[in-house]
Amino acid sequence: MNMEKNKQSNSILAGKFILLGITGGIAAYKAAELCRLFIKAGASVRVIMTPAAKEFISPLTLQTLSKHQVYDDLFAGTKRYTVEHVELTKAADLFVVAPATANTISKIAGGIADNLLMTTMLAARCPVLLAPAMNTQMYQHPALLENLRKLRAWGYHQVGPAIGELACGDTGAGKMAPVEEIFAAAGRILRQNSSWQGLKVLITAGPTREAIDPIRFITNHSSGKMGYALAEAALERGASVTLVSGPTNLEPPRGADLIRVNTAQQMYEAVLEHFDDAHIVIKTAAVADYRPAVRQKEKIKKGESLTLELVPNPDILATLGKRKKQQILIGFAAETNNLEQNALRKLKQKNLDFIVANNVTQEGAGFNTDTNQVQIFFAGGDSKCLELMSKKELAGCLLQEVDLLLKERNTTGS
Ligand code: PMT
Repeated sequence: MNMEKNKQSNSILAGKFILLGITGGIAAYKAAELCRLFIKAGASVRVIMTPAAKEFISPLTLQTLSKHQVYDDLFAGTKRYTVEHVELTKAADLFVVAPATANTISKIAGGIADNLLMTTMLAARCPVLLAPAMNTQMYQHPALLENLRKLRAWGYHQVGPAIGELACGDTGAGKMAPVEEIFAAAGRILRQNSSWQGLKVLITAGPTREAIDPIRFITNHSSGKMGYALAEAALERGASVTLVSGPTNLEPPRGADLIRVNTAQQMYEAVLEHFDDAHIVIKTAAVADYRPAVRQKEKIKKGESLTLELVPNPDILATLGKRKKQQILIGFAAETNNLEQNALRKLKQKNLDFIVANNVTQEGAGFNTDTNQVQIFFAGGDSKCLELMSKKELAGCLLQEVDLLLKERNTTGS
């Protein structure tokens, strides 16, 4: 079975560019074997070592195996590496850190960039696989466990640690996963990361703003975090992503084709322009249902009272539901009451494949939070209630549901 797994990893690794980070632990010597496996599978490997790693294994060994200079010094020579490490991350398909010490794991979680491996890590936008290795007591320290949990929530991958006899004589969890396991995990990640290649994904995110006068507007609390997390998750799977975003303070996901809009009407036009070409459409945006009938040219002056006449905005998702051909169409529903009833109505009315309903009154769910808790209702009648989790994790779960729909369509040919 292991041989079968390794065969699959071999084929996906051919031609891939792997960054192999080695940190200062006794398991560092095993990184040489991992490097050899990657090379044998046809990958191109560049090795980055921390200063402590060089105490455990010679850079020359890794240089010989990878057939490339080993990167180990942030301030080497003409400081060219400070630029080169950013170039390396742009080319990398995967960054594997094996062994990953408690020190390095915690530095990543804290955003500390005090050596070449760390500066490269913080610049990296490719998936990262960590193979923790340390003493059992260190591994069980709440700070370390919390840091690993945080990194997983951010989308870092982890393999191991294994349980066994450690170099210090203790027995327990903390041993670096066997290199074959790390190699297989790398293959799995790369396979997942190319699974949406050729697919076009259209995502909307954030709020819309409907102007009352030159100073004021109607809007809502959407931060764009849910939609941006979905865009990142789709990019990680290799899809080409068009992100139509209302005003947010978020960093645009690298690689997405970002279209900024303000109003619901602008979002409607941008979405319709890209809809026909899209394979998957996810409407996370909190679109204002109404806009002022008239946008006053001058600032409205204070008076006794003010009555605003509002007119409905186009329902973008309902329009898409009518136009839908091959697309998988997914909506969100932000509800404060009757979640199921309202979500099911929108699912049907808007002709969706599934709808993701969040009760926005619940702590940690909905608008402007880093977490969300949702219930998914499918067109076929099924439903699923997911736990509270980070928006990043939720994005992964939702795309897995899309994967299942894609597979279903491939098998039925529809
Ligand atoms: O952005 P965050 O801070 O991360 O918050 C995430 C979120 C709470 C905004 C998100 O999880 C969410 O629930 N988005 C949907 C918000 C919403 O507008 O729900 P709705 O029930 O009003 O709309 C239902 C669906 O129709 C949505 O997919 C919406 O994009 C779409 N719609 C609504 C009105 C309209 N005029 N056009 C639309 O396309």
